[in-house]
Amino acid sequence: MRMYDIIAHKRDGWELTQSEIEFFTEGCTNGTIPDYQTAALLMAIYLNGMSDNEILNFTFAMRDSGFTADLSGIKGPTVDKHSTGGVGDKTTMIVVPIAAAIGCKVVKMSGRGLGHTGGTVDKLESIPGFQSELTHKELVKLVNKVGACMIGHSEDIAPADKKIYDLRDVTATVESLPLIASSIMSKKLACASDCILLDVKFGSGALMKDPGDAMSLASEMVKIGKSAGKKTAAVLTNMDVPLGNAVGNTLEVIEAVKVLKGESKGPLYDISIELTAHMAHLASGLPLAECRRLSEEAVENGTAFKKFKQIVKAQGGNTAYLDDTSLFERARYRCDVRAKQIGYIAFMDTHLIGDASMKLGAGREVKEDEIDHAAGIIIHKKTGDYVEPGQIIATLYANDDHYFHDAVPVFNQAIRYSDMNIDQLPLIYHIIK
Ligand code: URA
Repeated sequence: MRMYDIIAHKRDGWELTQSEIEFFTEGCTNGTIPDYQTAALLMAIYLNGMSDNEILNFTFAMRDSGFTADLSGIKGPTVDKHSTGGVGDKTTMIVVPIAAAIGCKVVKMSGRGLGHTGGTVDKLESIPGFQSELTHKELVKLVNKVGACMIGHSEDIAPADKKIYDLRDVTATVESLPLIASSIMSKKLACASDCILLDVKFGSGALMKDPGDAMSLASEMVKIGKSAGKKTAAVLTNMDVPLGNAVGNTLEVIEAVKVLKGESKGPLYDISIELTAHMAHLASGLPLAECRRLSEEAVENGTAFKKFKQIVKAQGGNTAYLDDTSLFERARYRCDVRAKQIGYIAFMDTHLIGDASMKLGAGREVKEDEIDHAAGIIIHKKTGDYVEPGQIIATLYANDDHYFHDAVPVFNQAIRYSDMNIDQLPLIYHIIK
């Protein structure tokens, strides 16, 4: 088989065979296919798409390019939750303990943040002592003991995807539905949980701007999950506005703690309950309404927060910081951003808000960047709120006050005002089962 012929097939609109896809994926992983040929095939896929069959074969080939977790030592069905990425998305830190508190076995492997979106592992590492790397044996032991773990992806998970994703990033081929669906699902399948709940985001802060595109992506991923024998569902959620009020690692942990303690209700709480209910429904088969009720009860009666502390403690984190969040180290400098005019906030470009947070030091522009856990943004006014000139919309936090120079204009650019309040799409837009 020659890579040249595989590229030509795809260029000419043919469906690639399973052996062609496996040849390509293996060659990518072991380095026998040069980057220029991989890039050419990726562009042909970007332009011509892939059939369901090709997507499935590609997903399985990438999953099998590396290590697949063996979760057979965990008692009970395991459940995983994946978000396609957003700004201020701290739901994992809320959903995982609630789900574990109501009896789910949650194996959550997350990535680190890059660009405008944050990563769960970075957020959790704001808690002093928290260890996001566990051996496979430790993971199994931990989940059996406390019901959940929240760790980083091992390097050996789907190495073909890593190689391909790095090339997609520099060849303008990221925004391709078959490539995104197969990339995400290859890693989810390698993580090997029995049930997978996908939180597929749409809007200005998401990979998919348009809800219709997000719906197509979600349907494709659910199809892949089911074909692999996993119970899979997707919740489509709105990322046209940052989730909650905090953006940035420590600030998001503090906000998550408030929700888990039952001290903060609103969209973040609502979305967390909905996601947890769907995870529990997949894992237990109990009616969704019952799973929702159990999730709410776990927050109300304190078991969700207690479970969060158990998980954090089991992973080496200092839980005193969760009992008393004033212990967290705060940024040295703060800067209020004020409304420029009278009117309603009609739109917040959530991607730009993520960029502003990155400029404060809370995120990474490139993988090698160090992040500042204390940096970030607290948003006081959001889309739909009425403001008057000079009113504080947000407070920015940084450890270097020069960072405000770049971050404030980016934040201001994200805000659009209007004389009229404009309808927003619902927070939870659609469910795909
Ligand atoms: N996240 C992934 O893991 N892969 C993609 O292609 C896009 C987002």
